[in-house]
Amino acid sequence: MKAVVLAAGLGTRFKSEKPKVLHEILGKPMLWYVVSTVRQGGIEDIAVVVGYRAQEVMEALGEGYAYYVQENPKGGTADAVLASIDFWRNSEGYVLIINGDSPLVSPETIRNMQRFLHMVEEYEKIRLGGVVLTSVLQDPTGYGRIIKEEGTDRILRIVEEKDATPQERNVREVNGGVYMFYIPYLLEALFKISPSEKTGELYLTDVVAYMVSRGYEVRSFMASDPTEILGVNTRWELSFAENILRLKLIKYWAQKGVTFHVPETVWIEPDVTLSKNVEIFPGVMLKGRTRVGENVVIKTGAILEDSEVEESVVIEPYSYVSGSVIRKRAKVGPYARVRENSVVGEGAEVGNFVEVKKSEIGKDVKAKHLAYIGDATVGDSSNIGAGVVTANYDGRKKHRTEIGKGAFIGSNSLLVAPLRLGNFSYVAGGSVITKDVPEGALAIERSRMRILKDRGRRLLGNHEDL
Ligand code: UD1
Ligand code: CA
Repeated sequence: MKAVVLAAGLGTRFKSEKPKVLHEILGKPMLWYVVSTVRQGGIEDIAVVVGYRAQEVMEALGEGYAYYVQENPKGGTADAVLASIDFWRNSEGYVLIINGDSPLVSPETIRNMQRFLHMVEEYEKIRLGGVVLTSVLQDPTGYGRIIKEEGTDRILRIVEEKDATPQERNVREVNGGVYMFYIPYLLEALFKISPSEKTGELYLTDVVAYMVSRGYEVRSFMASDPTEILGVNTRWELSFAENILRLKLIKYWAQKGVTFHVPETVWIEPDVTLSKNVEIFPGVMLKGRTRVGENVVIKTGAILEDSEVEESVVIEPYSYVSGSVIRKRAKVGPYARVRENSVVGEGAEVGNFVEVKKSEIGKDVKAKHLAYIGDATVGDSSNIGAGVVTANYDGRKKHRTEIGKGAFIGSNSLLVAPLRLGNFSYVAGGSVITKDVPEGALAIERSRMRILKDRGRRLLGNHEDL
């Protein structure tokens, strides 16, 4: 079966320049969810009908789809299907048509609808005109209403809200915007329906009444979860859809052995992978292609983006790790920042207000407070004192700092790159280091300290009242 995704509409109710289908849910365009669902539903051959800002939509989605342009983005959903006619007209059997603003439909539903068609053919020996995904909603406002032959699954027609009589509006079964139509009947119907008198649009939903008039049966297929059919027409519905998908993902990981504290505050994007026994505290964000190993604890407010965190790591509160690797048993934070291809070695500690950029921190290194380590390598078991700064930028270029293993960099030292500090080298606190330090050497760079007896008191005056 082939699939056609309708994504040409203007999305007027979004009040947005950006195409509605490119608005994001958990860091991915809404349309990405629709095409992923179709693909996971077992359909690989997918066309996307674009119109409004077509170029942007095609770029966002990338290769792997056939694109068709609907010239008039106000032509309506049937006009959009007609725009892709060359894609599906010569195929066998049925074609799936799905709205690009239905991101909550599940792959199982797509599979079940296909199965349903096979069952009807196999056991009832009927070739259906089509099957329509429906759901019964508490509040059906905004959706096309499903008008059925009483007591059956046979749909007689779908009435858009604008065209519905008050009685029809009371119908709570609605059209989910997912259809499988028998291609020869669809072709016939698309050329017979006429534009809506109210809007001038050609409605895909009108093919149903036409098919029925020709004696072709169209059936409803009820979504197992009524939220699946949610159409995203407003920004508020986008938030709502995001929330549903977010909780679905969290539930999925919880079932795989991840603990979530206050899951309603946790953000996990769809490409993230977690291992068992991970523990996640409130307000955590896991973004992009982040991978988290077993027994990792991620505490409140931490953000991990496109990063790999190996087993038994602890990410303390409010730390932000991006594009980096945190090796086994390391500890990051609280309030640490690790970014741009950095590696924090096994068992290392990068603590309070430490920033690490494009640097390799060795095994068991300790940098526990207030440091900036940029464009540097720090050898195993070295100690980086509070307030140490690698001055990596001379105003024009970035330079590297290389620190050997077992080194000790005293508090508040400034390491002016390019620089090499040998293994077991020692930098006395408060030094400004501008030359390489050989292995095992002590480097001290500060003016000699003097004690001037009673000079302090004289400067302050006598405070005999204290
Ligand atoms: C549509 C259905 C309605 C159903 C609802 C489910 C029709 C006429 N109505 O209504 O019965 O309950 O979806 O969510 O189909 N699009 C195009 N070209 C167009 C118009 C729309 O590609 O000319 C695309 C849009 O980008 C969107 C999808 O089709 O992704 C649905 O269009 P939309 O205008 O949102 O339809 P609804 O009014 O929600
Ligand atoms: Ca819609």
